[in-house]
Amino acid sequence: MSIDTTQANRESGHFAEHQELWLFGYGSLIYKAGFDYLRRAPATITGWQRRFWQGSHDHRGTPDAPGRVATLVEAPGQVCLGMAYRITPAVFDHLDHREKNGYLRFVTPMRFADGDIEDGLVYIATPDNAAWLGDASVDAIAGQIQRSTGPSGPNRDYLLQLDKALRELGADDTHVAAIAARLRERMAAEPGV
Ligand code: BEZ
Repeated sequence: MSIDTTQANRESGHFAEHQELWLFGYGSLIYKAGFDYLRRAPATITGWQRRFWQGSHDHRGTPDAPGRVATLVEAPGQVCLGMAYRITPAVFDHLDHREKNGYLRFVTPMRFADGDIEDGLVYIATPDNAAWLGDASVDAIAGQIQRSTGPSGPNRDYLLQLDKALRELGADDTHVAAIAARLRERMAAEPGV
């Protein structure tokens, strides 16, 4: 299941006149950018939480056996810690293509550790996109991630790298930590899977 969001993102025009802008990363962008940036710094956004509810048919899974990757869902009052990147608009050509499977750009206020607040762009997969998987038990999500692999590598690497990076940042993300812990238990019980 796939819907190409590249064109919708190109037409959104956010920050079209800007020479530099902020991008907020909450998934793989926390541990790996894959593009040039001017600087980066941890930042938080409010009203959103990270969830492994988006299917990945093109990076960490396949059309027949999708993996699960992070998106953000609305959660009033919740604070989500991520990594902000200062970038040029050219980076969006790269990201619009890389994240074309359901992710749309939104604008959000971001708060930095020193209290500064800046607007940033964030890619979010919403429940109406074709690759949406939604909620499932911690064990079911961990099992799907354990079994899935795609052109960007094993789904488990994405989860475990994100969990490690979040802990190094001091984030208290119980959703990611619980799935990662369950995945480790499953891997220990079934080393060949
Ligand atoms: C991220 O924050 O890692 C991310 C970037 C683009 C799409 C989805 C997530």
